[in-house]
Amino acid sequence: MITSDILRAKYLKFFKTKNHAVIEGKSLIPDNDPTVLFTTAGMHPLVPYLLGEPHPAGKRLVDYQKCIRTGDIDSVGDNSHLTCFEMLGNWSLGDYFKKESIAWSWEFLTDPEWLALDPRLLSVTVFAGDENAPRDEESASVWRSLGMPEDRIAWLGADDNWWAAGPTGPCGPDTEIFYWVGDGLPPPGSNKGTDPEHWMEIWNNVFMEYNRIDAQTLKKLPAQNVDTGMGLERTITVLQGKKSVYETEIFQDIIRAIGEAAHYTYGTDAGKDMSVRIIADHTRASVFILGDQKGVLPGNVGAAYVLRRLIRRSVRHGRKLGITKPFLAPIAEVVINRFEHAYNELAQNRAKILEELPREEERFLETLQKGEAEFEKLLPNLLKNPQKVMSGRLAFRLYDTFGFPIEITEELAREHGLTVNKEEFDEAFKKHQELSRANSANVFKGGLADHSEMTTKYHTATHLLHKALRIVLGEHVAQKGSNITAERLRFDFSHPAPMTPEEIKRVEEIVNEQIARDLPVTMEMMPLEEAKKAGAIALFGEKYDPVVKVYTIGDFSKEVCGGPHVERTGVLGHFVIQKEQSSSAGVRRIRAVLEPHN
Ligand code: SER
Repeated sequence: MITSDILRAKYLKFFKTKNHAVIEGKSLIPDNDPTVLFTTAGMHPLVPYLLGEPHPAGKRLVDYQKCIRTGDIDSVGDNSHLTCFEMLGNWSLGDYFKKESIAWSWEFLTDPEWLALDPRLLSVTVFAGDENAPRDEESASVWRSLGMPEDRIAWLGADDNWWAAGPTGPCGPDTEIFYWVGDGLPPPGSNKGTDPEHWMEIWNNVFMEYNRIDAQTLKKLPAQNVDTGMGLERTITVLQGKKSVYETEIFQDIIRAIGEAAHYTYGTDAGKDMSVRIIADHTRASVFILGDQKGVLPGNVGAAYVLRRLIRRSVRHGRKLGITKPFLAPIAEVVINRFEHAYNELAQNRAKILEELPREEERFLETLQKGEAEFEKLLPNLLKNPQKVMSGRLAFRLYDTFGFPIEITEELAREHGLTVNKEEFDEAFKKHQELSRANSANVFKGGLADHSEMTTKYHTATHLLHKALRIVLGEHVAQKGSNITAERLRFDFSHPAPMTPEEIKRVEEIVNEQIARDLPVTMEMMPLEEAKKAGAIALFGEKYDPVVKVYTIGDFSKEVCGGPHVERTGVLGHFVIQKEQSSSAGVRRIRAVLEPHN
Protein backbone atom coordinates (compact mmCIF):
# COMPACT_ATOMS: atom_id res chain seq x y z
CA MET A 1 0.00 0.00 0.00
CA ILE A 2 1.28 3.48 -0.84
CA THR A 3 1.04 5.52 2.34
CA SER A 4 1.09 9.32 2.48
CA ASP A 5 4.71 9.16 3.67
CA ILE A 6 5.68 7.15 0.61
CA LEU A 7 3.77 9.47 -1.72
CA ARG A 8 5.51 12.55 -0.33
CA ALA A 9 8.90 10.88 -0.76
CA LYS A 10 8.12 9.65 -4.29
CA TYR A 11 6.95 13.06 -5.41
CA LEU A 12 10.12 14.79 -4.23
CA LYS A 13 12.25 12.05 -5.71
CA PHE A 14 10.54 12.13 -9.09
CA PHE A 15 11.01 15.86 -9.48
CA LYS A 16 14.58 15.63 -8.25
CA THR A 17 15.21 13.35 -11.25
CA LYS A 18 13.85 16.27 -13.32
CA ASN A 19 16.43 18.60 -11.75
CA HIS A 20 14.14 20.29 -9.23
CA ALA A 21 15.56 21.59 -5.94
CA VAL A 22 13.67 20.40 -2.87
CA ILE A 23 12.63 23.38 -0.75
CA GLU A 24 11.01 23.40 2.69
CA GLY A 25 7.33 24.02 3.16
CA LYS A 26 6.55 27.20 5.08
CA SER A 27 4.43 28.41 7.97
CA LEU A 28 0.64 28.34 7.75
CA ILE A 29 0.62 32.08 8.42
CA PRO A 30 1.63 33.95 5.26
CA ASP A 31 4.57 36.30 5.53
CA ASN A 32 3.66 39.40 3.61
CA ASP A 33 0.08 38.91 2.63
CA PRO A 34 -2.53 40.79 4.64
CA THR A 35 -5.33 39.60 2.31
CA VAL A 36 -5.39 36.02 3.61
CA LEU A 37 -5.31 34.56 7.11
CA PHE A 38 -3.67 31.28 6.10
CA THR A 39 -1.50 29.69 3.50
CA THR A 40 -4.24 28.23 1.31
CA ALA A 41 -2.14 26.71 -1.46
CA GLY A 42 1.38 25.46 -2.01
CA MET A 43 2.15 28.45 -4.20
CA HIS A 44 1.35 31.03 -1.54
CA PRO A 45 4.85 31.31 -0.07
CA LEU A 46 6.21 31.49 -3.63
CA VAL A 47 4.22 34.51 -4.78
CA PRO A 48 7.19 36.94 -4.77
CA TYR A 49 9.15 34.52 -6.99
CA LEU A 50 6.25 33.98 -9.36
CA LEU A 51 6.16 37.75 -9.70
CA GLY A 52 9.81 37.80 -10.75
CA GLU A 53 12.09 37.86 -7.72
CA PRO A 54 14.88 35.27 -8.16
CA HIS A 55 14.59 32.25 -5.84
CA PRO A 56 17.84 31.29 -4.09
CA ALA A 57 17.29 27.58 -4.84
CA GLY A 58 16.89 28.11 -8.58
CA LYS A 59 14.19 27.95 -11.24
CA ARG A 60 12.86 24.43 -10.67
CA LEU A 61 11.45 23.81 -7.22
CA VAL A 62 9.53 21.02 -5.50
CA ASP A 63 8.08 20.77 -1.99
CA TYR A 64 5.18 19.73 0.19
CA GLN A 65 3.19 22.38 2.01
CA LYS A 66 0.61 22.27 4.79
CA CYS A 67 -2.44 24.37 3.95
CA ILE A 68 -5.59 25.61 5.66
CA ARG A 69 -8.72 26.51 3.71
CA THR A 70 -11.87 27.39 5.60
CA GLY A 71 -13.98 28.49 2.64
CA ASP A 72 -15.44 24.99 2.32
CA ILE A 73 -15.85 24.37 6.05
CA ASP A 74 -19.51 23.41 5.63
CA SER A 75 -18.57 20.62 3.20
CA VAL A 76 -16.05 19.10 5.62
CA GLY A 77 -17.08 15.57 6.48
CA ASP A 78 -18.11 14.62 2.93
CA ASN A 79 -15.77 12.44 0.87
CA SER A 80 -13.21 14.96 -0.26
CA HIS A 81 -13.26 18.23 1.71
CA LEU A 82 -10.83 19.11 4.48
CA THR A 83 -9.89 22.40 6.14
CA CYS A 84 -6.34 21.13 6.67
CA PHE A 85 -4.53 19.38 3.86
CA GLU A 86 -1.16 18.88 2.30
CA MET A 87 -0.24 19.97 -1.17
CA LEU A 88 2.59 18.53 -3.21
CA GLY A 89 3.90 21.09 -5.67
CA ASN A 90 6.46 21.62 -8.39
CA TRP A 91 7.35 24.99 -9.87
CA SER A 92 8.99 26.45 -12.88
CA LEU A 93 10.08 30.04 -12.41
CA GLY A 94 10.44 31.10 -16.02
CA ASP A 95 11.98 27.74 -16.93
CA TYR A 96 9.90 24.88 -18.45
CA PHE A 97 6.28 25.48 -19.45
CA LYS A 98 3.20 23.53 -20.60
CA LYS A 99 4.83 20.70 -22.53
CA GLU A 100 7.20 19.46 -19.81
CA SER A 101 4.81 20.20 -16.97
CA ILE A 102 1.97 18.11 -18.44
CA ALA A 103 4.25 15.31 -19.65
CA TRP A 104 5.87 14.95 -16.22
CA SER A 105 2.52 14.92 -14.44
CA TRP A 106 1.40 12.14 -16.78
CA GLU A 107 4.62 10.18 -16.28
CA PHE A 108 4.43 10.46 -12.50
CA LEU A 109 0.78 9.38 -12.40
CA THR A 110 0.85 6.50 -14.85
CA ASP A 111 4.39 5.14 -15.09
CA PRO A 112 4.69 1.73 -13.36
CA GLU A 113 7.83 2.96 -11.62
CA TRP A 114 5.94 5.84 -9.97
CA LEU A 115 2.20 5.81 -9.16
CA ALA A 116 1.10 3.35 -11.86
CA LEU A 117 -2.47 4.68 -12.10
CA ASP A 118 -4.64 3.24 -14.86
CA PRO A 119 -4.73 5.87 -17.68
CA ARG A 120 -8.29 4.81 -18.52
CA LEU A 121 -9.40 6.24 -15.14
CA LEU A 122 -7.96 9.70 -15.73
CA SER A 123 -9.47 12.72 -17.46
CA VAL A 124 -8.52 16.38 -17.75
CA THR A 125 -9.90 19.87 -18.21
CA VAL A 126 -8.34 22.71 -20.23
CA PHE A 127 -9.16 26.40 -20.49
CA ALA A 128 -11.78 27.24 -23.11
CA GLY A 129 -10.64 30.86 -23.49
CA ASP A 130 -12.27 34.23 -22.77
CA GLU A 131 -11.55 37.95 -23.16
CA ASN A 132 -8.46 37.66 -20.92
CA ALA A 133 -6.64 34.78 -22.55
CA PRO A 134 -7.04 32.50 -25.57
CA ARG A 135 -8.31 28.93 -25.69
CA ASP A 136 -5.49 26.70 -24.43
CA GLU A 137 -4.87 24.63 -27.60
CA GLU A 138 -1.29 24.00 -26.58
CA SER A 139 -2.18 22.11 -23.38
CA ALA A 140 -4.84 20.11 -25.20
CA SER A 141 -2.43 19.04 -27.90
CA VAL A 142 0.15 17.97 -25.31
CA TRP A 143 -2.54 15.82 -23.67
CA ARG A 144 -3.48 14.30 -27.02
CA SER A 145 0.14 13.50 -27.79
CA LEU A 146 0.34 11.59 -24.49
CA GLY A 147 -2.64 9.47 -25.49
CA MET A 148 -5.48 11.27 -23.69
CA PRO A 149 -8.66 10.45 -25.69
CA GLU A 150 -10.60 13.41 -27.07
CA ASP A 151 -13.71 12.61 -24.98
CA ARG A 152 -11.72 12.76 -21.74
CA ILE A 153 -10.68 16.36 -22.40
CA ALA A 154 -13.26 18.87 -21.14
CA TRP A 155 -13.03 22.49 -22.28
CA LEU A 156 -14.20 24.73 -19.44
CA GLY A 157 -14.31 28.46 -18.74
CA ALA A 158 -12.63 30.69 -16.18
CA ASP A 159 -14.81 29.45 -13.30
CA ASP A 160 -13.13 26.07 -13.57
CA ASN A 161 -9.88 26.62 -15.39
CA TRP A 162 -8.46 29.95 -14.34
CA TRP A 163 -6.49 29.94 -11.13
CA ALA A 164 -5.64 32.89 -8.89
CA ALA A 165 -4.51 32.90 -5.27
CA GLY A 166 -6.48 36.04 -4.49
CA PRO A 167 -8.16 39.10 -6.01
CA THR A 168 -4.74 40.37 -7.17
CA GLY A 169 -1.43 38.68 -7.92
CA PRO A 170 -0.07 35.96 -10.20
CA CYS A 171 -2.67 33.92 -12.09
CA GLY A 172 -3.36 32.10 -15.32
CA PRO A 173 -5.20 29.32 -17.10
CA ASP A 174 -4.79 25.81 -15.74
CA THR A 175 -5.26 22.23 -16.75
CA GLU A 176 -6.67 19.95 -14.06
CA ILE A 177 -6.37 16.21 -13.73
CA PHE A 178 -9.22 14.05 -12.41
CA TYR A 179 -9.63 10.46 -11.30
CA TRP A 180 -12.73 8.36 -11.88
CA VAL A 181 -14.64 7.71 -8.64
CA GLY A 182 -17.65 5.95 -10.20
CA ASP A 183 -18.01 2.19 -10.50
CA GLY A 184 -16.21 0.13 -13.12
CA LEU A 185 -14.71 2.00 -16.05
CA PRO A 186 -15.95 5.46 -17.06
CA PRO A 187 -18.36 5.27 -20.00
CA PRO A 188 -17.38 6.87 -23.33
CA GLY A 189 -17.94 10.63 -23.33
CA SER A 190 -17.63 10.92 -19.57
CA ASN A 191 -15.45 13.77 -18.31
CA LYS A 192 -15.55 16.61 -15.78
CA GLY A 193 -17.75 18.65 -18.11
CA THR A 194 -20.38 15.98 -18.79
CA ASP A 195 -20.31 13.99 -15.55
CA PRO A 196 -18.85 16.17 -12.78
CA GLU A 197 -19.86 14.08 -9.73
CA HIS A 198 -17.88 11.08 -10.85
CA TRP A 199 -14.52 12.75 -11.26
CA MET A 200 -12.34 13.91 -8.37
CA GLU A 201 -9.62 16.49 -8.95
CA ILE A 202 -6.18 15.30 -7.89
CA TRP A 203 -3.75 17.67 -9.57
CA ASN A 204 -3.81 21.18 -10.94
CA ASN A 205 -1.19 22.61 -13.29
CA VAL A 206 -1.42 26.39 -13.48
CA PHE A 207 0.36 28.30 -16.20
CA MET A 208 1.05 31.56 -14.48
CA GLU A 209 2.00 34.14 -17.02
CA TYR A 210 -0.30 36.92 -15.83
CA ASN A 211 -0.44 39.30 -12.89
CA ARG A 212 -3.79 40.73 -11.86
CA ILE A 213 -3.23 44.34 -10.79
CA ASP A 214 -6.89 45.15 -10.10
CA ALA A 215 -10.34 44.11 -11.32
CA GLN A 216 -9.76 45.80 -14.70
CA THR A 217 -6.06 45.25 -15.30
CA LEU A 218 -4.30 42.04 -16.22
CA LYS A 219 -0.61 42.27 -17.13
CA LYS A 220 1.76 39.71 -18.60
CA LEU A 221 4.38 38.60 -16.09
CA PRO A 222 8.06 38.94 -17.04
CA ALA A 223 8.30 35.12 -17.22
CA GLN A 224 6.13 32.11 -18.00
CA ASN A 225 5.79 30.16 -14.76
CA VAL A 226 4.27 26.85 -13.79
CA ASP A 227 2.58 26.23 -10.43
CA THR A 228 1.25 22.77 -9.81
CA GLY A 229 -0.57 21.45 -6.79
CA MET A 230 -1.37 17.81 -6.11
CA GLY A 231 -3.75 17.15 -3.24
CA LEU A 232 -1.98 14.60 -1.07
CA GLU A 233 -5.05 13.26 0.73
CA ARG A 234 -7.10 12.94 -2.45
CA THR A 235 -4.33 11.19 -4.33
CA ILE A 236 -3.88 8.76 -1.45
CA THR A 237 -7.62 8.07 -1.55
CA VAL A 238 -7.26 7.05 -5.17
CA LEU A 239 -4.08 5.04 -4.63
CA GLN A 240 -5.60 3.14 -1.73
CA GLY A 241 -8.77 2.45 -3.69
CA LYS A 242 -11.03 4.33 -1.25
CA LYS A 243 -14.08 6.46 -1.85
CA SER A 244 -13.34 9.00 0.86
CA VAL A 245 -10.26 10.77 2.24
CA TYR A 246 -11.39 9.72 5.71
CA GLU A 247 -11.13 6.05 4.78
CA THR A 248 -7.43 6.32 3.98
CA GLU A 249 -4.62 5.28 6.28
CA ILE A 250 -4.03 8.99 7.00
CA PHE A 251 -7.07 9.26 9.27
CA GLN A 252 -7.39 5.78 10.73
CA ASP A 253 -5.54 6.34 14.02
CA ILE A 254 -7.33 9.64 14.54
CA ILE A 255 -10.78 8.19 13.86
CA ARG A 256 -10.05 5.26 16.16
CA ALA A 257 -9.06 7.64 18.98
CA ILE A 258 -12.29 9.62 18.56
CA GLY A 259 -14.30 6.39 18.58
CA GLU A 260 -12.63 5.39 21.83
CA ALA A 261 -13.38 8.73 23.47
CA ALA A 262 -17.03 8.46 22.43
CA HIS A 263 -17.44 4.71 23.02
CA TYR A 264 -18.71 4.59 19.47
CA THR A 265 -17.83 2.23 16.64
CA TYR A 266 -17.20 4.20 13.46
CA GLY A 267 -19.35 3.08 10.55
CA THR A 268 -22.50 2.19 12.48
CA ASP A 269 -24.45 5.48 12.30
CA ALA A 270 -24.24 7.93 9.41
CA GLY A 271 -24.97 11.04 11.51
CA LYS A 272 -22.38 10.13 14.10
CA ASP A 273 -19.83 9.26 11.44
CA MET A 274 -20.19 12.79 10.13
CA SER A 275 -19.37 14.20 13.57
CA VAL A 276 -16.36 11.89 13.88
CA ARG A 277 -15.02 13.07 10.52
CA ILE A 278 -15.54 16.73 11.39
CA ILE A 279 -13.71 16.27 14.70
CA ALA A 280 -10.91 14.41 12.88
CA ASP A 281 -10.44 17.23 10.38
CA HIS A 282 -10.83 20.10 12.83
CA THR A 283 -8.56 18.60 15.47
CA ARG A 284 -5.91 17.99 12.85
CA ALA A 285 -6.27 21.59 11.65
CA SER A 286 -6.11 22.92 15.23
CA VAL A 287 -2.96 20.92 15.96
CA PHE A 288 -1.28 22.24 12.82
CA ILE A 289 -2.25 25.85 13.61
CA LEU A 290 -1.24 25.67 17.28
CA GLY A 291 1.95 23.84 16.36
CA ASP A 292 2.89 26.21 13.56
CA GLN A 293 6.29 27.91 13.43
CA LYS A 294 4.54 31.24 13.94
CA GLY A 295 2.69 30.18 17.09
CA VAL A 296 -0.98 31.12 16.98
CA LEU A 297 -3.16 30.83 20.10
CA PRO A 298 -6.98 30.82 20.20
CA GLY A 299 -8.34 34.37 20.25
CA ASN A 300 -10.97 36.68 18.86
CA VAL A 301 -9.47 37.98 15.64
CA GLY A 302 -7.97 36.65 12.45
CA ALA A 303 -6.23 33.28 12.42
CA ALA A 304 -6.63 33.05 16.21
CA TYR A 305 -10.39 33.24 15.80
CA VAL A 306 -10.46 30.53 13.14
CA LEU A 307 -8.50 28.33 15.52
CA ARG A 308 -10.99 29.04 18.31
CA ARG A 309 -13.90 28.16 16.03
CA LEU A 310 -12.30 24.91 14.89
CA ILE A 311 -11.74 23.80 18.48
CA ARG A 312 -15.22 24.84 19.58
CA ARG A 313 -16.83 23.12 16.63
CA SER A 314 -14.98 19.93 17.56
CA VAL A 315 -16.32 20.21 21.09
CA ARG A 316 -19.84 20.67 19.78
CA HIS A 317 -19.58 17.59 17.61
CA GLY A 318 -18.14 15.74 20.58
CA ARG A 319 -21.37 16.57 22.41
CA LYS A 320 -23.32 15.11 19.52
CA LEU A 321 -21.42 11.90 20.16
CA GLY A 322 -22.36 12.10 23.83
CA ILE A 323 -18.97 13.35 25.07
CA THR A 324 -19.35 15.98 27.78
CA LYS A 325 -15.83 15.98 29.22
CA PRO A 326 -12.58 17.29 27.68
CA PHE A 327 -11.47 14.72 25.10
CA LEU A 328 -9.33 16.50 22.52
CA ALA A 329 -5.87 16.17 24.10
CA PRO A 330 -5.41 12.42 23.42
CA ILE A 331 -6.67 12.92 19.88
CA ALA A 332 -4.24 15.81 19.37
CA GLU A 333 -1.48 13.53 20.60
CA VAL A 334 -2.36 10.97 17.95
CA VAL A 335 -2.25 13.73 15.32
CA ILE A 336 1.18 14.90 16.51
CA ASN A 337 2.55 11.35 16.48
CA ARG A 338 1.18 10.75 13.03
CA PHE A 339 2.66 13.85 11.37
CA GLU A 340 5.67 15.00 13.42
CA HIS A 341 8.25 13.30 11.22
CA ALA A 342 7.02 15.27 8.18
CA TYR A 343 6.32 18.45 10.17
CA ASN A 344 9.04 18.89 12.77
CA GLU A 345 7.41 21.92 14.28
CA LEU A 346 4.65 19.70 15.70
CA ALA A 347 7.23 17.83 17.76
CA GLN A 348 8.87 21.07 18.84
CA ASN A 349 5.55 22.54 19.92
CA ARG A 350 4.11 19.36 21.44
CA ALA A 351 3.91 20.79 24.98
CA LYS A 352 2.25 23.95 23.78
CA ILE A 353 -0.33 22.11 21.68
CA LEU A 354 -1.21 19.73 24.48
CA GLU A 355 -1.61 22.60 26.89
CA GLU A 356 -3.47 25.14 24.78
CA LEU A 357 -5.94 22.83 23.10
CA PRO A 358 -7.47 21.47 26.34
CA ARG A 359 -7.35 24.97 27.81
CA GLU A 360 -9.58 26.33 25.05
CA GLU A 361 -11.75 23.22 25.26
CA GLU A 362 -12.32 23.69 28.98
CA ARG A 363 -13.02 27.37 28.55
CA PHE A 364 -15.71 26.49 26.04
CA LEU A 365 -17.19 23.71 28.16
CA GLU A 366 -17.54 26.20 31.00
CA THR A 367 -19.30 28.60 28.66
CA LEU A 368 -21.63 25.84 27.59
CA GLN A 369 -22.45 24.89 31.16
CA LYS A 370 -23.23 28.46 32.18
CA GLY A 371 -25.33 29.01 29.08
CA GLU A 372 -27.21 25.77 29.57
CA ALA A 373 -27.99 26.60 33.18
CA GLU A 374 -29.30 29.97 32.04
CA PHE A 375 -31.37 28.37 29.32
CA GLU A 376 -32.90 25.99 31.87
CA LYS A 377 -33.93 28.99 33.94
CA LEU A 378 -35.65 30.57 30.95
CA LEU A 379 -37.30 27.38 29.86
CA PRO A 380 -40.52 27.36 31.94
CA ASN A 381 -41.41 30.79 30.55
CA LEU A 382 -40.44 29.87 27.01
CA LEU A 383 -42.69 26.84 27.07
CA LYS A 384 -45.64 29.07 27.91
CA ASN A 385 -45.25 30.89 24.59
CA PRO A 386 -48.15 29.70 22.42
CA GLN A 387 -46.11 29.96 19.17
CA LYS A 388 -43.25 28.02 20.75
CA VAL A 389 -40.77 30.66 19.59
CA MET A 390 -37.84 31.95 21.56
CA SER A 391 -37.17 35.62 20.81
CA GLY A 392 -33.95 36.56 19.04
CA ARG A 393 -33.37 39.19 21.72
CA LEU A 394 -33.21 36.50 24.38
CA ALA A 395 -30.95 34.29 22.27
CA PHE A 396 -28.69 37.29 21.75
CA ARG A 397 -28.53 37.92 25.48
CA LEU A 398 -27.31 34.36 26.00
CA TYR A 399 -24.67 34.99 23.36
CA ASP A 400 -23.65 38.43 24.58
CA THR A 401 -23.58 37.72 28.31
CA PHE A 402 -22.45 34.11 28.35
CA GLY A 403 -20.79 33.65 24.97
CA PHE A 404 -23.37 30.95 24.26
CA PRO A 405 -23.30 30.13 20.53
CA ILE A 406 -26.55 30.60 18.63
CA GLU A 407 -26.27 27.09 17.15
CA ILE A 408 -26.39 25.60 20.63
CA THR A 409 -29.31 27.77 21.66
CA GLU A 410 -31.11 26.51 18.57
CA GLU A 411 -30.15 22.94 19.39
CA LEU A 412 -31.50 23.18 22.93
CA ALA A 413 -34.61 24.96 21.74
CA ARG A 414 -35.24 22.19 19.22
CA GLU A 415 -34.93 19.56 21.92
CA HIS A 416 -37.84 21.24 23.70
CA GLY A 417 -39.98 21.73 20.63
CA LEU A 418 -39.11 25.40 20.29
CA THR A 419 -37.65 27.49 17.48
CA VAL A 420 -35.51 30.61 17.74
CA ASN A 421 -36.32 33.87 15.94
CA LYS A 422 -33.08 33.90 13.98
CA GLU A 423 -33.81 37.10 12.06
CA GLU A 424 -34.18 39.04 15.25
CA PHE A 425 -30.98 37.47 16.57
CA ASP A 426 -29.06 38.41 13.40
CA GLU A 427 -30.29 41.99 13.68
CA ALA A 428 -29.14 42.32 17.27
CA PHE A 429 -25.84 40.70 16.36
CA LYS A 430 -25.20 43.09 13.49
CA LYS A 431 -25.98 46.15 15.58
CA HIS A 432 -23.60 44.92 18.27
CA GLN A 433 -20.80 44.37 15.74
CA GLU A 434 -21.20 47.84 14.29
CA LEU A 435 -21.00 49.39 17.73
CA SER A 436 -17.84 47.56 18.73
CA ARG A 437 -16.18 48.33 15.42
CA ALA A 438 -16.91 52.05 15.87
CA ASN A 439 -15.45 51.88 19.36
CA SER A 440 -12.20 50.28 18.39
CA ALA A 441 -11.81 52.70 15.49
CA ASN A 442 -11.99 55.55 18.00
CA VAL A 443 -9.48 53.99 20.32
CA PHE A 444 -6.96 53.65 17.53
CA LYS A 445 -7.50 57.20 16.37
CA GLY A 446 -6.41 58.29 19.84
CA GLY A 447 -2.89 57.05 19.15
CA LEU A 448 -3.01 53.78 21.03
CA ALA A 449 -1.54 52.04 18.01
CA ASP A 450 1.48 54.35 17.95
CA HIS A 451 1.97 53.99 21.63
CA SER A 452 1.99 50.22 21.61
CA GLU A 453 4.20 50.15 18.53
CA MET A 454 6.91 52.13 20.34
CA THR A 455 6.74 50.06 23.51
CA THR A 456 6.99 46.90 21.44
CA LYS A 457 10.16 48.28 19.87
CA TYR A 458 11.59 49.05 23.29
CA HIS A 459 10.85 45.50 24.41
CA THR A 460 12.98 44.12 21.63
CA ALA A 461 15.68 46.75 22.16
CA THR A 462 15.85 45.68 25.82
CA HIS A 463 16.69 42.11 24.78
CA LEU A 464 19.45 43.39 22.50
CA LEU A 465 20.79 45.59 25.29
CA HIS A 466 20.73 42.77 27.83
CA LYS A 467 22.74 40.49 25.56
CA ALA A 468 25.17 43.25 24.55
CA LEU A 469 25.87 44.02 28.23
CA ARG A 470 26.67 40.36 28.87
CA ILE A 471 29.08 40.39 25.93
CA VAL A 472 30.86 43.58 26.97
CA LEU A 473 30.78 43.35 30.79
CA GLY A 474 30.49 39.61 31.36
CA GLU A 475 28.04 36.84 32.13
CA HIS A 476 27.45 38.11 35.67
CA VAL A 477 25.14 40.75 34.21
CA ALA A 478 21.57 39.83 35.10
CA GLN A 479 18.40 41.82 34.72
CA LYS A 480 17.23 43.36 37.98
CA GLY A 481 14.42 45.45 36.63
CA SER A 482 12.98 46.88 33.44
CA ASN A 483 10.58 49.71 32.79
CA ILE A 484 9.35 50.71 29.37
CA THR A 485 7.31 53.67 28.16
CA ALA A 486 6.63 54.87 24.64
CA GLU A 487 9.50 57.37 25.10
CA ARG A 488 12.36 55.27 26.48
CA LEU A 489 13.56 52.07 28.09
CA ARG A 490 15.08 51.76 31.54
CA PHE A 491 17.09 48.71 32.43
CA ASP A 492 18.57 47.72 35.81
CA PHE A 493 21.25 45.06 35.96
CA SER A 494 23.82 43.62 38.31
CA HIS A 495 27.33 45.02 37.84
CA PRO A 496 29.74 46.14 40.57
CA ALA A 497 31.18 49.33 39.00
CA PRO A 498 30.18 52.27 36.82
CA MET A 499 30.59 51.54 33.12
CA THR A 500 33.44 53.30 31.32
CA PRO A 501 32.61 55.53 28.34
CA GLU A 502 34.27 52.90 26.08
CA GLU A 503 32.06 50.15 27.47
CA ILE A 504 28.96 52.24 26.93
CA LYS A 505 30.03 53.02 23.38
CA ARG A 506 30.76 49.35 22.65
CA VAL A 507 27.33 48.27 23.95
CA GLU A 508 25.63 50.86 21.76
CA GLU A 509 27.61 49.69 18.75
CA ILE A 510 26.71 46.04 19.28
CA VAL A 511 23.01 46.84 19.62
CA ASN A 512 23.07 49.00 16.49
CA GLU A 513 24.90 46.26 14.58
CA GLN A 514 22.11 43.82 15.38
CA ILE A 515 19.54 46.38 14.26
CA ALA A 516 21.43 46.88 11.00
CA ARG A 517 21.46 43.10 10.43
CA ASP A 518 17.63 43.22 10.44
CA LEU A 519 17.43 39.97 12.39
CA PRO A 520 14.13 38.07 12.52
CA VAL A 521 12.47 37.80 15.92
CA THR A 522 10.72 34.48 16.47
CA MET A 523 8.74 33.03 19.32
CA GLU A 524 8.40 29.46 20.48
CA MET A 525 6.56 27.95 23.43
CA MET A 526 8.40 25.31 25.42
CA PRO A 527 8.76 23.90 28.92
CA LEU A 528 10.96 26.14 31.09
CA GLU A 529 13.57 23.42 31.53
CA GLU A 530 13.90 23.01 27.80
CA ALA A 531 14.19 26.77 27.37
CA LYS A 532 17.08 26.88 29.84
CA LYS A 533 18.74 23.95 28.13
CA ALA A 534 18.44 25.78 24.82
CA GLY A 535 20.45 28.59 26.43
CA ALA A 536 17.61 31.06 26.90
CA ILE A 537 18.21 33.80 29.46
CA ALA A 538 15.62 33.47 32.22
CA LEU A 539 15.45 35.56 35.35
CA PHE A 540 16.70 33.78 38.41
CA GLY A 541 14.11 33.48 41.14
CA GLU A 542 11.29 34.63 38.87
CA LYS A 543 8.13 32.54 38.88
CA TYR A 544 7.33 31.22 35.43
CA ASP A 545 4.54 29.12 33.97
CA PRO A 546 5.60 25.55 33.26
CA VAL A 547 5.48 26.36 29.55
CA VAL A 548 7.10 29.64 28.59
CA LYS A 549 7.49 31.82 25.54
CA VAL A 550 11.04 32.07 24.27
CA TYR A 551 11.94 34.94 21.98
CA THR A 552 14.91 34.41 19.70
CA ILE A 553 16.53 37.29 17.84
CA GLY A 554 18.45 35.80 14.93
CA ASP A 555 21.63 34.14 16.20
CA PHE A 556 22.12 36.89 18.76
CA SER A 557 19.78 36.50 21.71
CA LYS A 558 17.39 34.04 23.28
CA GLU A 559 15.30 35.06 26.24
CA VAL A 560 12.25 33.88 28.14
CA CYS A 561 9.71 36.70 27.90
CA GLY A 562 6.01 37.40 27.59
CA GLY A 563 6.48 39.71 24.59
CA PRO A 564 5.30 41.41 22.49
CA HIS A 565 8.19 41.99 20.12
CA VAL A 566 8.75 43.40 16.66
CA GLU A 567 9.15 40.95 13.79
CA ARG A 568 12.54 42.17 12.65
CA THR A 569 15.17 44.28 14.36
CA GLY A 570 15.51 46.55 11.32
CA VAL A 571 12.48 48.59 12.34
CA LEU A 572 13.96 49.69 15.67
CA GLY A 573 15.86 52.78 14.51
CA HIS A 574 19.07 54.07 16.12
CA PHE A 575 19.85 52.99 19.67
CA VAL A 576 21.36 55.58 22.04
CA ILE A 577 22.26 55.19 25.72
CA GLN A 578 21.42 58.51 27.39
CA LYS A 579 22.44 57.74 30.94
CA GLU A 580 24.27 55.14 33.00
CA GLN A 581 24.05 55.51 36.78
CA SER A 582 23.85 53.67 40.08
CA SER A 583 20.47 52.22 41.03
CA SER A 584 21.33 50.49 44.31
CA ALA A 585 24.28 48.58 45.74
CA GLY A 586 25.77 46.46 42.94
CA VAL A 587 23.01 47.42 40.52
CA ARG A 588 23.42 49.84 37.59
CA ARG A 589 20.66 51.57 35.64
CA ILE A 590 20.66 52.44 31.93
CA ARG A 591 18.26 54.78 30.22
CA ALA A 592 18.19 54.48 26.45
CA VAL A 593 16.13 55.70 23.51
CA LEU A 594 15.46 54.68 19.93
CA GLU A 595 15.80 57.48 17.39
CA PRO A 596 14.38 57.29 13.88
CA HIS A 597 16.92 56.17 11.24
CA ASN A 598 18.27 59.16 9.34
N1 SER B 1 -2.19 26.93 -6.98
C1 SER B 1 -2.88 25.81 -7.56
C2 SER B 1 -3.85 25.16 -6.55
O1 SER B 1 -3.79 25.44 -5.40
C3 SER B 1 -1.90 24.79 -8.02
O2 SER B 1 -0.90 24.58 -7.07
O3 SER B 1 -4.64 24.37 -6.96
